[in-house]
Amino acid sequence: MASVSTVILGTGHYAPARILTNADLAKMVETSDEWILSRSGIRERHIAAPGEGTSDMAVAAARAALVNAKLAPDDIDLLIVATVTPDLTLPAVSCTIQHKLGLRTNAACFDLNAACSGFVYALDTACAMLASGRYRRAIVIGAEKLSAITDYTDRTTCVLFGDGAGAVVLGLSHEPGVGLLGTRLGAYGGSVDLLCVPRGGSSHPATAASIAAGDHFLKMKGKEVFKIAVRAMEEAARDILEQHHLRADQIGLVIPHQANLRIIESISQYLGVPMDRFYVNLDRYGNTSSASIPIALDEVRRAGRIKRGDYTLLVAFGAGLTYGSALIRW
Ligand code: UT7
Repeated sequence: MASVSTVILGTGHYAPARILTNADLAKMVETSDEWILSRSGIRERHIAAPGEGTSDMAVAAARAALVNAKLAPDDIDLLIVATVTPDLTLPAVSCTIQHKLGLRTNAACFDLNAACSGFVYALDTACAMLASGRYRRAIVIGAEKLSAITDYTDRTTCVLFGDGAGAVVLGLSHEPGVGLLGTRLGAYGGSVDLLCVPRGGSSHPATAASIAAGDHFLKMKGKEVFKIAVRAMEEAARDILEQHHLRADQIGLVIPHQANLRIIESISQYLGVPMDRFYVNLDRYGNTSSASIPIALDEVRRAGRIKRGDYTLLVAFGAGLTYGSALIRW
């Protein structure tokens, strides 16, 4: 069989209309615009409307990606949704999205949870499934309603997170040397307690007491996570460049997970790739977990920042503690 590669045929994103600024948060907890901006780089984030679910945001992003790819729902036979905030604990939100998008009922669909690295994990999974020859076109979505698991009385976390969704449509190409060239995935599974929702899972089901204690909300030991994030993202980026015999200066654009501007600046320094080749939008979105990279990818494509032949490096890090990088040639 002639070699085939997975290519991005279209991208889309969606962000809810409501914007929560640093000044708004300063009225809710003891914080300030100065602290949030200087420690994280975030100015504002989008927050879903009451009743607006992860599936609604995902569907809007996927519809935009389908239009961008000039394809119809019937053309899709695989849907993977990366999320830590599905509409319901059971069943998978991908089933709801499959239906709302009007995909065929014989389009396979499932959720994937690799937290903020979820989109990169899902991209790799879709790529392998398409390469198997059993699927022709896929939609991969990163979608999160993090406001649903954020404790708005905890200033150490509530200033960081936002809601949104990004999507890509993937297909196969016979053109050599383009598309998703490779990924490098992993996890520091010994450190799950540094970033987690402690109660509500099967090992510790929610109780009235755990809910009263706010243990159904996301908890993070920020400083420890920060250090591992910088190391893991740098390693994942460096490894994939080495695998593909590329120098840092050959990368047209790096799209990092948008958690903290200081993390991105550290990676830029360690990799020797200047900041003007890193895409940053966390000032407008905050950390949207699995949605951050596909939202950014859509913005850069629509802004014309990607040209044919360019290399783009995606690099992510999140709860788990998962990490991953992906190398794309356009
Ligand atoms: O997306 C998944 C991966 N997540 C990440 O990569 C996030 C990684 N971590 C971070 O981005 C940073 O650690 C944070 C932005 C979360 C925190 O920044 P930091 O520089 O590590 O601050 P810190 O946690 O060491 O806190 C410094 C001080 C503390 O006060 P004391 O103990 O020095 O008196 C905090 O209580 O800042 C205080 N503080 C705040 N002050 C004002 C913590 N949160 C706030 C706040 N406003 N919102």
